[in-house]
Amino acid sequence: MAPVVAALPNAGAVAEIAPVDNLSGTSAVRPAALEMASVVLRHRDGADEVVALDGIDLTVGSGELVVIIGPSGSGKSSLLAVAGALLRPTSGTVRIAGTELGSLRRRQLSALRRDRIGFIFQTGGLFPSLTALEQLLLVAEVAGQKAAPHRDRAEQLLRDVGLGSRLDHRPDQLSGGERQRVAVARALMGRPALLLADEPTASLDRSRSAEMVELLAEQTHRHGAATVLVTHDPDGLSHADRVLTLVDGRLTEA
Ligand SMILES: Nc1ncnc2c1ncn2[C@@H]1O[C@H](COP(=O)(O)OP(=O)(O)O)[C@@H](O)[C@H]1O
Ligand SMILES: [Mg+2]
Repeated sequence: MAPVVAALPNAGAVAEIAPVDNLSGTSAVRPAALEMASVVLRHRDGADEVVALDGIDLTVGSGELVVIIGPSGSGKSSLLAVAGALLRPTSGTVRIAGTELGSLRRRQLSALRRDRIGFIFQTGGLFPSLTALEQLLLVAEVAGQKAAPHRDRAEQLLRDVGLGSRLDHRPDQLSGGERQRVAVARALMGRPALLLADEPTASLDRSRSAEMVELLAEQTHRHGAATVLVTHDPDGLSHADRVLTLVDGRLTEA
């Protein structure tokens, strides 16, 4: 299982938000990585209001892959934005690794995003001029650390996602599926408690799509992150630990 305090980023910044005791083992019950309770999100759209999330209750444990399937406009991206501390909900509570987000200031929210959460987006979001290995090392640099000590881990993560022979390739030298594998490895670089993937298979064909979900399941179980993958694509769901459906901002069991 991944340590509660991320080893790579600035662990001090995390401890300031949520003191944890990894060494003495006194914390017998570890909180779920993600707990959302009665979460409502309303977007203001001119004079109108859109209810994007309409009472979401969702708990995801460490090492669990939850896939949420829903049509376009059902609130998938809104759900991940709230779970990922990018948007504050209109009402309800969100906890990440036991820390309630409502009580945090903006600076603390951004530290928490950096230190606890890995994001994977539809098109990967890789930097065009960087090699696969450099995409991962950039995570260390953004956290204010030297890249060199993290090189072995970055190479290992890329080997784990099947890219051992592509370390020095730039995005334009990789296939769509390979680019998404780099995005997965990069999201794991900071040892996130929570991994959020917004339609990561949207640009992939059917068999690559299923492979992507399988890879996320594998990596979730190996690294002990709690992973939420949202998609409109029913391929590869057999690899999920749990499948939920989102319709009009409401979650139901699939
Ligand atoms: N920034 C915004 N302002 C106003 N309405 C929004 C905004 N973002 C999303 N919405 C609306 O909220 C609903 C859910 O959107 P979204 O979470 O993007 O769904 P999905 O990712 O499932 O397509 C939609 O009706 C959408 O139009
Ligand atoms: Mg979306």
